[in-house]
Amino acid sequence: MALFDWQDTYSVGIEKMDSQHRKLFEIANAFLAAFERGEPRAALVAIFDELAAHTVSHFADEERLMQECGYAGFDRHKLSHEKLVERVLGYKRRIESVEPGVETRAMNVIKTWLNAHLLGMDRDYRDSVMRWEAGKTAAKLA
Ligand SMILES: [Fe+2]
Ligand SMILES: [Fe+2]
Repeated sequence: MALFDWQDTYSVGIEKMDSQHRKLFEIANAFLAAFERGEPRAALVAIFDELAAHTVSHFADEERLMQECGYAGFDRHKLSHEKLVERVLGYKRRIESVEPGVETRAMNVIKTWLNAHLLGMDRDYRDSVMRWEAGKTAAKLA
């Protein structure tokens, strides 16, 4: 399966969020590489756990940021995160129980989701965060 390919268009222009997004791609690629090398189930489960944990902590950071800057689309965005976490946890159980073909299915779903989410919803909070950051800087200079 093709790797998760980071592209500059995924950037939301906020360094902390970009680096957390890039880390998601890295862990997903580590999972794919381990799967293709035929690593033992425990190793695959451990990497998938790391992916799930990073996803949850990234969403928490992103949601905090959106709330701080008063982003209007917060509820809808949080719901989208919650739905993905539910799916990821479902895949975790199915990977643990060695459901045939689940590894590539899971990674395809996550890849499609990330692509759409980064280019859509995540890009959408960017302006609110930028305005908020600019306001903070202006307040500091005043
Ligand atoms: Fe998001
Ligand atoms: Fe995000």
